[in-house]
Amino acid sequence: MPKMTFVERDGTRREVDAPLGLSVLEVAHKHGIDLEGACEGSLACSTCHVVIDPEWFDKLNAPSEDEEDMLDLAFGLEETSRLGCQIVIDETLDGLVVKLPAGTRNAQG
Ligand code: FES
Repeated sequence: MPKMTFVERDGTRREVDAPLGLSVLEVAHKHGIDLEGACEGSLACSTCHVVIDPEWFDKLNAPSEDEEDMLDLAFGLEETSRLGCQIVIDETLDGLVVKLPAGTRNAQG
């Protein structure tokens, strides 16, 4: 099974199993990683924002326009930011590293 690593806000690295076909958001939830995902993957929020390790960024499929629009609203946007619910684990992403962004808006925001 592929693995991926989440780098938490305090710098802690957590390597976890990343089953094929799950989104990065779903993998995070499965392992109790603190990533919100308020709209559960319907591209209606930006709370699943993650920052992709630069080494991995180019290996991902390009974001859709809708994703780009939502990302513009994300808090703490970085050069390699993506929405976690739009990245689906496949064999090529074994070893993926993503960082949780520095700050997030909460659900009321
Ligand atoms: Fe809302 Fe990803 S969970 S856009």
